[in-house]
Formats: sequence, structure tokens, C-alpha cells
Amino acid sequence: MNIILLGAPGAGKGTQAEVMCKELGIPTISTGNMLRAAVKAGTEYGLKAKAAMDAGALVSDDIVIGILKDRIAEPDAQNGFILDGFPRTVPQAEALDNMGVQIDKVIELAVEDEKIKSRLSGRRVCLDCGATYHVVTKAPKVEGVCDVCGKELVIRKDDEPATVISRLETYHKTTAPLVDYYSKQGKLVTVHGTDSVAETNDLVLAALKG
Ligand code: AP5
Repeated sequence: MNIILLGAPGAGKGTQAEVMCKELGIPTISTGNMLRAAVKAGTEYGLKAKAAMDAGALVSDDIVIGILKDRIAEPDAQNGFILDGFPRTVPQAEALDNMGVQIDKVIELAVEDEKIKSRLSGRRVCLDCGATYHVVTKAPKVEGVCDVCGKELVIRKDDEPATVISRLETYHKTTAPLVDYYSKQGKLVTVHGTDSVAETNDLVLAALKG
């Protein structure tokens, strides 16, 4: 099954993708995680992507489509995948269609902007293994320390309040039109993502079966 998780920054795409990956036994493909890894490694496209990411803007379609195309060709993605953060523009969605990729379901996680701001202000991430926490709803066992690898937890640079506002504006202007795009294809299911992680996951799984 090929699934797209659509939603504003902080809607819980990464959190749900992590749970779904274990439940469905298919990999999560997060363009955000791949871009952050490229920035950390200082690769050519990482250097190109960094300024846009730090400003809360989108990385150019050609870079993102290129890395996505390479990733979905890998052996572990041949029995299905969960796309987290791709597509984010209509040209990216069209590129996916033009690659002949069959998408089965698009799950939109709907969360209002004010809730997103509070979620992202409390998010802490491990830059080493990528695990994500929240100071209130998903606190690590030891404050500031990753449960998985024991490294330090930090605030993501693009989670600064001013950058979050830019990311939300970009989402509403450039990514939200994909709701209509996939609705017209009969693939969209909207799930309210404001309940707990477990309750939201129940709704997501029900949407996949429906
Ligand atoms: P990316 O990493 O994809 O960021 P994003 O979409 O902005 O998403 P986030 O990771 O911020 O949010 P999320 O929805 O995954 O929320 P999470 O589960 O962590 O992209 C980063 C940047 O890369 C972009 O800005 C862009 O520059 C670039 N980029 C990436 N893909 C691109 C593309 N296709 N095209 C162009 N550029 C691209 O949850 C957030 C917090 O809330 C966490 O603390 C979590 O613990 C908490 N939480 C989650 N669910 C719940 C819940 N149900 N209840 C309570 N708390 C919850």
C-alpha cells in the first residue's frame, strides 16, 4: 500500500508515520528527514536546501523530486511506503503521477494553527537518531536526553515561533491545494489530528481500511 500523509507542519505526520511504519511493516519516507541528513552531511543538495529550510520556505521542486525518485526505487520501498512531507506542491504531486506511482490513500491530518504553534514550541528532537519528543505530551525519560540513543535533545531551528508562522503560511498557500488535488482523485480522507497520538492513530488506521 502506498500512502501519503498530508498536513501542516506539526500536524503529527512524523509521529503517525513512525507508528504506522511498525503497524504496516512498510517504510516511512520523510523528505524533511532526508534533507536534514543531507544538510548535516554537507552534500551538494544539502547546501542548496539549508537556507530555504532555515527560513521555513520550501526547497525547490527539482531537488526534492530527485531525492524522492531515488528513494522510492530502493528495494525496501517495493512493497509499499508512507510518504511524510511529500508531495508539498502541485508540481510535486504531478511528478509522482508522471513517475507512474500508484497512490492508494492520502490521509490529511487536520489540526488548527494555534494548536500547531503550541506543539512545535514544545517539540524537542534528537539530531543524532531523529527521534521526536514533546515536553508535555511525549517527554523523554530524562529531560533533554534521547531515550533511544542517549544523545542531547534540541529545539529544531525551524521551530522558532517566527519561522513556524512562515511555515504555516507556506502550507496554506502552496501545500493545502493538494487537498483538492487528491480529493478529485477520490483518494483523500481527512482525519482530525487533535486527539492523543494513540487516538489519532486509531482514526488513521480506520481511514486506511475504509
Ligand atoms: P519536514 O521535516 O517535513 O517538516 P514539516 O512538514 O514542517 O513537519 P514537522 O516535522 O514539523 O511536523 P509533523 O507533522 O511531522 O509533526 P510531528 O509528528 O513531529 O520538513 C522540514 C523542511 O524541509 C520544510 O520546511 C522544507 O523546507 C523542507 N522540505 C521537506 N519536504 C519538502 C518537500 N516535499 N518540498 C519542499 N521542501 C521540503 O509532531 C509535532 C510535535 O507535536 C511533536 O513534538 C509531537 O510529539 C507532537 N505531537 C504529534 N502528534 C501529537 C498528538 N496527537 N497529540 C499531542 N502532541 C502531538
